[in-house]
Amino acid sequence: MLKKTLIAASAISLSAFALTACGGDSDADSKGGDSDGKITMGFAQVGAESGWRTANTKSIQETAEAEGIDLKFTDAQGKQENQIQAIRSYIQQKVDVIAFSPVVETGWDAVLQEAKAANIPVILTDRAVDSEDTSLYKSFLGSDFVVEGERAGDWLVENAADSDTNGDGKVNVVQLEGTTGAAPAIDRAEGFAEKIAADPTIEVTASQTGDFTRDGGKQVMESFLQSDDTIDVVYAHNDDMGLGAIEAIEAAGKKPGEDIKIITVDAVKDGMTALSEGKINFIVECNPLLGPQLMDLAKKVVDGEEVEARVLTEEGTFTPEQAKEVLADRQY
Ligand code: AHR
Repeated sequence: MLKKTLIAASAISLSAFALTACGGDSDADSKGGDSDGKITMGFAQVGAESGWRTANTKSIQETAEAEGIDLKFTDAQGKQENQIQAIRSYIQQKVDVIAFSPVVETGWDAVLQEAKAANIPVILTDRAVDSEDTSLYKSFLGSDFVVEGERAGDWLVENAADSDTNGDGKVNVVQLEGTTGAAPAIDRAEGFAEKIAADPTIEVTASQTGDFTRDGGKQVMESFLQSDDTIDVVYAHNDDMGLGAIEAIEAAGKKPGEDIKIITVDAVKDGMTALSEGKINFIVECNPLLGPQLMDLAKKVVDGEEVEARVLTEEGTFTPEQAKEVLADRQY
């Protein structure tokens, strides 16, 4: 990846958003574990924008508790400046390890250099940063978002004939993008575009961000439907935006999954329920249960062990029939 613009380090007030300590103990003054030998991790989360994120937060908090890791957790409410502020606070507190899921890809080098100068290892989870300097973090744990986009595109190419719902010989796709500048939004669009290029009948006719939220997906879909009555397919970068689109499609008097086909990414319970009901046609899985692998990596980097620079999560895809089979046992 290319290094892009660095943001200037600026004086930031620590009271602008909630810094919440989870798992107890605020006595994290000594490096390499506090007085009772516990590892202290500072985790800067993106926010609570989606069902996926809620499941991801739960996995991290529950695993930290089970593994006896003192977790300091912040919710950045979708703002990069809040995450940078949280990371600076963790550096001041001399935590043993910092982990975070970057809201957007660019603008991290300055704060990561500060962590490196303080000898605090950093682990990226879920999303990558766009930096040439890979010494700024020990490992990146998460999905391959380009592959997720490719899986969505492959399905559409294989199902192009069925997806031409108004029978005009073209498959008009509207894309609900994730947060602008976020790795999953960039990569899922890229992987999808690469695959649908194989079929000239498929075209993305409109593409706009719904910020990974249900409300965002609904609002953008409403405006797409008002300006175009030839939409065949919605490709939503996550389940929540797809679920918002379903509301907009139903309000417009159309049948989601039939009049307009829907492809989403994540496979959270609400998405899988809609898939099993035929309102979504295909879901590409993105696994949010990163807690166990993250805590394992954290222990290793704090112990000075070498870790893999890239740790991939295993994921699949779901059709409506497959969703019906697994729904009852779905954890999130
Ligand atoms: O980074 C993972 C993405 O972020 C999930 O697909 C989406 O639901 C979340 O908001």
